[in-house]
Amino acid sequence: MSTVIDDIGELVTNEPGMGEGPLGIVRDAALVLEAGRVAWVGAAGRAPAADERYDAAGRAVLPGFVDSHAHLVFAGERAEEFAARMSGRPYTAGGIRRTVADTRRATDAQLRAGLRRLVAEMARQGTTTVECKSGYGLTVADEERSVRLAAEVTDEVTFLGAHVVPPEYAGDPDGYVRLVASQMLAACAPHARWIDVFCEDGAFDADQTRTVLEAGIRAGLIPRLHANQLGHGPGVALAVEYGAASADHCTFLTDADVAALAGSQTVATLLPGVEFATRQPYPDARRLIDAGVTVALATDCNPGSCYTSSMPFCIALAVREMRMTPAEAVWSATAGGARALRRDDVGRLGVGARADAVVLDAPSHLHLAYRPGVPLVMAVWKDGERLE
Ligand code: NIG
Ligand code: FE
Repeated sequence: MSTVIDDIGELVTNEPGMGEGPLGIVRDAALVLEAGRVAWVGAAGRAPAADERYDAAGRAVLPGFVDSHAHLVFAGERAEEFAARMSGRPYTAGGIRRTVADTRRATDAQLRAGLRRLVAEMARQGTTTVECKSGYGLTVADEERSVRLAAEVTDEVTFLGAHVVPPEYAGDPDGYVRLVASQMLAACAPHARWIDVFCEDGAFDADQTRTVLEAGIRAGLIPRLHANQLGHGPGVALAVEYGAASADHCTFLTDADVAALAGSQTVATLLPGVEFATRQPYPDARRLIDAGVTVALATDCNPGSCYTSSMPFCIALAVREMRMTPAEAVWSATAGGARALRRDDVGRLGVGARADAVVLDAPSHLHLAYRPGVPLVMAVWKDGERLE
């Protein structure tokens, strides 16, 4: 099965050396998708014959969004906590325990249904690759089923047993860390690619983070970290020290943190939906980009700190609130997310890339930030299959 997407007004390829500017924009283009891959990129009207033709009628086509940070295996919701924050209550991450209680009570079928609903919601908004964390089970059995269910919908599964200390270990946090780094890790590692820790005051300190990361690395997982979300702390420095693929949040950074990221391969993944929904200050993307740090944008979709599944919303926030240009934001939501997941097959639309493409009902990528809140995603292909 092959498809030609023809008469593309603006094709964002993210291919260095191709087209114009940092997004590798090719105008008046066509794209052939075949056997799940991009088989050909060239001028409109010149594509080789394909089984199907989609007429983009001058619209923009982008790589599918790569949402490199999400927590999708959970039950319940916390809208009242959000409303309280909008009336001035601070975000403390204490609400995570409420979702843990709801999640433990849920059946596998309920968790699977919630997870699939969110993945479908994301696909409708153009997300074709999603990372998914555990972290609302916090027992060996509940974390194992969280990563097992996540692995049904994505290859990018992250074991986040070290999300918070669950109530039954309140008096013995180090005992909980030992559990995470031993039996829980052993049960979860076969389903996961990544190991993550919420390194923050009120969650896990530097020593506890080291214990979990080192055990995860020994089990064959690759680190990524929740770092510097609610205040300054050791998270970013640890992420760099352990060669993490990504340090996520990066809201409170010292100059030394920025320099450490700039001198590393660790991507800074910014999650502006969180600052929107917690009324925290937005991370300073401009400062990071100007220092040479690779920046990704992701949703952090979860029922507490940010319940959006929308990459277009995050792009609009990043442009308006984080001093990113529209091109930078689009790059960070596609190629940047791919970097944060150490993937070179997604987040771009060159020959050989995975056939994940999004048609916008707009003439250019600028409209993602220019027309916030408008459902511009008109058609989506994932692995060459039409989803929307
Ligand atoms: O990435 N920061 C830690 N974890 C999530 C929030 C989880 C929740 O509030 O339920 C986050 O923001
Ligand atoms: Fe998160």
